[in-house]
Amino acid sequence: MDNFSEARADVHRLRAESSAILTGINTVLADDPALNARVDWDVVQPVRVVLDSDLNMPVTARMAKLAGRSLILTCSQDEKKRQALQSVGFEVYQLADKNSRLDLHAVMDFLAQQQINELLIEAGPVLNGALLAEGLVDEWVVYMAPCILGDQGRGLFTVPGLQSMADKKSLHLCDVRQIGLDVKLTLTAP
Ligand SMILES: NC(=O)c1ccc[n+]([C@@H]2O[C@H](COP(=O)([O-])OP(=O)(O)OC[C@H]3O[C@@H](n4cnc5c(N)ncnc54)[C@H](OP(=O)(O)O)[C@@H]3O)[C@@H](O)[C@H]2O)c1
Repeated sequence: MDNFSEARADVHRLRAESSAILTGINTVLADDPALNARVDWDVVQPVRVVLDSDLNMPVTARMAKLAGRSLILTCSQDEKKRQALQSVGFEVYQLADKNSRLDLHAVMDFLAQQQINELLIEAGPVLNGALLAEGLVDEWVVYMAPCILGDQGRGLFTVPGLQSMADKKSLHLCDVRQIGLDVKLTLTAP
């Protein structure tokens, strides 16, 4: 097994342990992810959940064709888009909004009602930053590869109000281990 696949296998084990995997619409538009657990043992596949305030999910998205539930959470009232997405297999739920985007606390309440207790988030910096700012994450798992992307790469968290060292968000480092050639950090809120 090469280095890339060892870290990747670890992510799939995390997915297999989760009730659901949540991401934002930008990740779907960029990567068209399957968001399933590809492991070599029997597993109940996690529910896929996409936060999509304006229903920009393409009807051609790969996850719609996969077995299991794919949920879109939205604040859009566009009935035409909703029906188009439902016709290809998505479940679409309208939730409360806050500043023109989904209210993340309403999202967590809704997922709890759906019996989703272990939620894995695999998102980009916008959603990661919003969840961090709202204090809605119990644990972060960060995989670091020994390579340099320069200063044009995207960060992990978009946090608009964070301007100086005094505004920093401190985390508690719980575990550090090597996975293949990568480093895996496990962090929690202090
Ligand atoms: N390295 C990794 O492990 C990894 C993992 C995932 C993604 N990515 C990369 O991350 C990039 C996308 O990142 P991203 O940050 O642009 O997008 P993102 O985190 O996937 O999704 C952000 C989008 O979620 C929607 N959203 C709905 N309610 C929200 C709320 N309350 N707060 C914040 N967002 C909300 C917003 O779009 P609407 O308002 O339009 O709904 C927002 O633009 C892609 O390039 C992808 O490849 C990397």
